[in-house]
Amino acid sequence: MSGIKIAILVAFIALASSYETSPSFSSDGAIDMCQPCVAFADTNLQPLYQTLSGNTPPTTCSGLCSTIKDAFAQQICLYLCQNPQPSPSTMFTAVKRAGPSQDSIYFCESLNQICPVVNGGAAVINSTYVTPSTGGVNTVFKVQVIFTVTSATGTGQVLLTVTPPGTSVKPFSYDYFNEGFAVDSYSAKFEIPMTPQLPTGNYTGIVQICSGTCGLTNPGEATLAQSSIKFTVR
Ligand SMILES: *[C@@H]1O[C@H](CO)[C@@H](O)[C@H](O)[C@H]1NC(C)=O
Ligand SMILES: *[C@@H]1O[C@H](CO)[C@@H](O)[C@H](O)[C@H]1NC(C)=O
Repeated sequence: MSGIKIAILVAFIALASSYETSPSFSSDGAIDMCQPCVAFADTNLQPLYQTLSGNTPPTTCSGLCSTIKDAFAQQICLYLCQNPQPSPSTMFTAVKRAGPSQDSIYFCESLNQICPVVNGGAAVINSTYVTPSTGGVNTVFKVQVIFTVTSATGTGQVLLTVTPPGTSVKPFSYDYFNEGFAVDSYSAKFEIPMTPQLPTGNYTGIVQICSGTCGLTNPGEATLAQSSIKFTVR
């Protein structure tokens, strides 16, 4: 069992370090199963939920996890279901709770707190800058957000949602996953690369600091702070 665990951790260290190229803050969780769990759930929570909603749902961890085709994801499924001890009911309850809203963070929080849960987190956004405020079609707009956590938070996201002018391109978003912030000030940076395929005109955006998944309302989830940005592409 410990051999599998090490293999999983090593594979995700490489993945995590590629994430670290852009976030300018680091979460406390150096190596743990929270982020691997969320990555697993992003792909597999919905199929697992469908399996458990079927006519003859499995009743064991191996029965549930064997419905996942990808061998590596299957191992993570077994790890999540069997730690700290084989506990299909914890896993099955988490899938049933978080499945309908496809809420990967809530799923991992429900699993013996694989992702940390902290109630009562609070934050304020001190400032939000975009540079440049106006640029051409190949500009990379840089957004910097300074925020202060006034009461420690649990697992959550810092999310930037950008709305282009007109209706030809849907809003798009960038998010930083985190496993909770201690009381302190932080800076987060986003880069929005423009391409000639994107429309010119006035763009707006919203930065949100969320407990849990931004925009969802499962227990413990809330938008702790929010601010808006705008920039123009000419
Ligand atoms: C941000 O705002 C909070 C609350 O107003 C304040 O306590 C904190 O000192 C500010 N931090 C910075 C870096 O400006
Ligand atoms: C974009 O915003 C500027 C000022 O913020 C305004 O003068 C201009 O009319 C806007 N352009 C469009 C196409 O809405």
